[in-house]
Formats: sequence, structure tokens, C-alpha cells
Amino acid sequence: MITAASYLEKLFSLEGKVVLFTGAAGGIGSALCKALAQAGASVALCDINLSSLQALQGEIVQADGGASVHLLDVTDKENISACVEEIVRMYGHIDVLVNCAGINKRIGLADYDEQTYDRIMDINLKGTFFVTQAVARQMKEQFLRTGKGGSIINIGSHNTGWVLGGCSVYAATKSGVYALTKSESVEWAKYGIRSNCISPGHIQTPLTTVTWEHPTRSKYLLEHIAMNRPGYPEDIVGVCILLASDASAYITGCEYRVDGGCISGGQPWEYDTDF
Ligand SMILES: NC(=O)c1ccc[n+]([C@@H]2O[C@H](COP(=O)([O-])OP(=O)(O)OC[C@H]3O[C@@H](n4cnc5c(N)ncnc54)[C@H](O)[C@@H]3O)[C@@H](O)[C@H]2O)c1
Repeated sequence: MITAASYLEKLFSLEGKVVLFTGAAGGIGSALCKALAQAGASVALCDINLSSLQALQGEIVQADGGASVHLLDVTDKENISACVEEIVRMYGHIDVLVNCAGINKRIGLADYDEQTYDRIMDINLKGTFFVTQAVARQMKEQFLRTGKGGSIINIGSHNTGWVLGGCSVYAATKSGVYALTKSESVEWAKYGIRSNCISPGHIQTPLTTVTWEHPTRSKYLLEHIAMNRPGYPEDIVGVCILLASDASAYITGCEYRVDGGCISGGQPWEYDTDF
């Protein structure tokens, strides 16, 4: 008899899959890496923050999951090539790429200096581009050899559709990440490579502490979230497992918003009846 648990396990299992995960040490990254490992994947944890990566690996291994640590600066092309090679040497293949490394700096449009502009672009957009290029070459080679390509999951942002003041460069990078997602889906479907974008809303992590602890900005955000609470990294787990698994075999080029009803309109205004 097929039980619900065994049916779901077969549908969403990541058993045997290898995930290269950038920005693994961050708030969203570490929650997603733990979940992917829990679902059966071996996760290659990549970030610039070595001590946090090692702590995360310890937690995953303690929970009987598989994870390895790889120091990766996504702005360094040589580092990217060496890291991809190291992971392929270690596991033999890469089935899923999650591009999660990202930064933000909240400054008015008129006040950005070139260095800050370049740094945000280099990590969020250029870094995502070249990590993806290196991993997709590997996935293409795997497809030609075995018939199996892979799944790319780009972490975009709410800011691709609903822009906050002071986030112009960040919003431009994340809109670019979504545009890349669509190009990847179009150009690489023939190699069995799918690409999708998860655009989180306002998630409580180190990146957004400055906003959630701010007296007026946090109030503003809550008013614009229909569910009237911040998102948590764990809220993104479900869609990430879906996109990493074969359950999403016919899904590519899509953006998934995980925003508690922000883009849909946030808190309603006063109205007369409940109907
Ligand atoms: N927190 C949110 O509300 C939110 C909303 C929308 C999108 N996002 C996106 O989600 C992703 C993760 O965000 P988070 O909130 O977990 O932030 P975070 O600051 O907790 O994590 C970001 C991670 O990226 C790593 N990183 C930074 N520069 C790097 C580089 N050059 N090379 C490799 N790694 C680097 C950091 O070390 C850190 O571990 C980011 O892409 C962010 O833009 C976050």
C-alpha cells in the first residue's frame, strides 16, 4: 500500500541530489540548507563567512544530513571556477544551484557613490550571473552524458515588483536576477536545465534587522503585509523544496512570491461590511 507519507516522500525527495548553495551562512540561506539536507540532499555550503559555514555544517551533520563547506566569494571568477571544480570532484555532479548570496545598502538615489553601487551589483547580479554560468556548464555536460540537467533557484526579492525607498540599486539587481531567470529558462531548457526565482517579501534576518528594529519602517511594513507579520526564513522552505525536486519538472522561468500578501495589497483599508 502507498501511504501518504511514502507518496509525498517520492514526489518531493531530494535523495541523491547535490545542491550548490551560495550565501549559505545567512539567515535565509542557513534555514534553506538545513531543510534541503533534511529532504535528503547533500548540500555544498558556499559563503565568505567560514565560521558560520562550519557551525551550519555541524548542525546539519548532527541531524544526520550531508553537507560540505566551501569558501566562495561570488565576485571572484577564479574562486567560482575552483569552487565548482572542487564540488564536482567531491560529489561527481551538481543537480541544484541556489543563488542566495546578496547584500543591500539603503541609500537615496541621489546619494549613491560608485563604490557602493558596484559592490551591490557585483554580488547580487554579476556574482549570480557567473556562478550560474559555471554551474550550468556542468549541468549541460551532465545532461549530454546522462540525460539529467538540473534546477537553478535564484533568490530575487519583493523589490522586483514593489519598490521601497532607498533600495534603488538593490531593486535593479533583483529585477536583473528575475530577467536572468527567464533567459536561463529559455536558453537552457534544451539541456534539461530549469530556472526559477523565489522573491521573498519582508523576512526577518540579519539583512533586515535594521528595518524590523526601526520604529517607523517596521510599522509601515506591517501595514503593507496582509498577514500582518514578518516572514521567517522557514516560510520559504516549501517552495524551495518544490523547485529543487522533480515535482517541479515542468516549471521553469517563473517567479514565486513569498510575501504574506504584500504585493496583493497589504492590510485592507476601513470598509463597511464583512461581506
Ligand atoms: N531578508 C529579506 O527580507 C529578503 C527579502 C528579499 C530577498 N532577500 C534575499 O535573500 C538572500 C539572503 O538574504 P538574507 O536576508 O538571508 O541575508 P543575510 O545577510 O543573512 O545573508 C546573506 C549571505 O550572503 C553572504 N555573502 C555576502 N557577500 C557574499 C559574497 N561576495 N560571496 C558569497 N557570499 C556572500 C553573506 O556572508 C551572508 O551569509 C539575499 O539574496 C537577499 O537579497 C532577502
